[in-house]
Amino acid sequence: MPVVATVNEVPNLGKKQVAVAGQELLLINLKGVIYAVEAECPHQGAPLGGAIVKDGYLSCPRHGYRFILADGSCPEHPECTLKTWPVRIEGDDIIVDLA
Ligand code: FES
Repeated sequence: MPVVATVNEVPNLGKKQVAVAGQELLLINLKGVIYAVEAECPHQGAPLGGAIVKDGYLSCPRHGYRFILADGSCPEHPECTLKTWPVRIEGDDIIVDLA
């Protein structure tokens, strides 16, 4: 499983976009918990780098769909699911299981 970034590159409530194996990932630090999600909205492809993180949700800047960071689900629009990947922290390394 690849190391995609280090923890200190993703500040609390911040994001960092990385490309791993041809896949654009968005790393999000929510109060010390790192999430890895796809970098484009599953609704109409808006880039999520500018999305707002609040109350465990990632809110798309284009139409406001809110995705739960823990599993990528969108309660208001269940047909849209944001892809997420398991994250492991080893020391300062962020490791994402892309399988
Ligand atoms: S493109 Fe993200 S909610 Fe429509």
